[in-house]
Amino acid sequence: MDRPIVNRNDRFIDLHLHLDGAVTPLIARRLGEMQGMALPEDELLEKQLCVPPECLSLNDFLRCFELPLTLLQTREALAECTKLVCKSLAEQGVVYAEIRFAPQLHCQRGMSQEDAVRAVLDGLESCPFDAGLILCCMRGRGNEKENAETLALTAKYLSAEGGAAAMDLAGAEALFPTRNYRELFENAADKGIPFTIHAGEADGADSIREAVNFGASRIGHGVRCFEDGALAELVREKGIPLEMCLTSNRQTHAVENMAEHPFMRYFSQGLKVTLNTDDPAIERTDIAAEYRYAEELFGIDGKQKRQLLENAVEAAFAGERVKARVRAELGLAAGGAVDG
Ligand code: HPA
Ligand code: ZN
Repeated sequence: MDRPIVNRNDRFIDLHLHLDGAVTPLIARRLGEMQGMALPEDELLEKQLCVPPECLSLNDFLRCFELPLTLLQTREALAECTKLVCKSLAEQGVVYAEIRFAPQLHCQRGMSQEDAVRAVLDGLESCPFDAGLILCCMRGRGNEKENAETLALTAKYLSAEGGAAAMDLAGAEALFPTRNYRELFENAADKGIPFTIHAGEADGADSIREAVNFGASRIGHGVRCFEDGALAELVREKGIPLEMCLTSNRQTHAVENMAEHPFMRYFSQGLKVTLNTDDPAIERTDIAAEYRYAEELFGIDGKQKRQLLENAVEAAFAGERVKARVRAELGLAAGGAVDG
């Protein structure tokens, strides 16, 4: 039998990871203790923090964020959570990650969005590897002011190394279509803010087309790109990376039959596919498990695994110095070529 593609000392990149989706029961206990918040016993806690078997859609999935968000309403808790998530990622072999969160979801108990951003940046200071921060705007109604503030904060803290790396749009795509966010992303583009947009996950190819037209540097998920062949070709031609997350797509039912997931089709067509976790604690996954899942579903081999990692390096919102270091840690060639 061939050697499995994932081994014990492997190194990884995760470009699509939500901080509030990375709160494991262990992290939740620590955050609860810090704040004198009583949490239910283990079995119930796990149930509250993980996606239920009856999850039918992204809308259902997004309900799992209630408890993590309750635990992340102070500066201390946000900084500690960031530290613990980074520590856990380092133990899993992650050598570069982009952690994202929506500051506007952390203002329920007096924190400002800027307090929240500073708290997460504080936490990232002790991260054992280079990590970027992506600030998420949220799909919704009546939160235009909050999104504008997130944009202004991204501009303020923007830096390829050490501050905010980019902006994103998260939330219920099927309820609040991408076309509603034209003005927001026109402003982002005017300010030179790089951005990724969750698109083509719970909505169709048009959502991805809008995101590309807005000037998105990357697409979160992009599962439904195949519905429009010309769009897939455009995404390939422009070299726009897709941040794909297999377990997440199964659980949100973005894809009903995982054997027919377009991941391999895009990869073979030369689209810049990357593999990520999305919400590892909620999904009970980690980045190594996602690579194992890709091997199980599509039979990806070692060379394809290295290509996925090289795609992730190229796609990263990081400067060339960081990219060179990450390539070296992953054992990838300096020029980006992937050998057999
Ligand atoms: N899509 C949209 N919003 C999200 C997701 C997702 O997969 N995960 C966390 N917030
Ligand atoms: Zn996501």
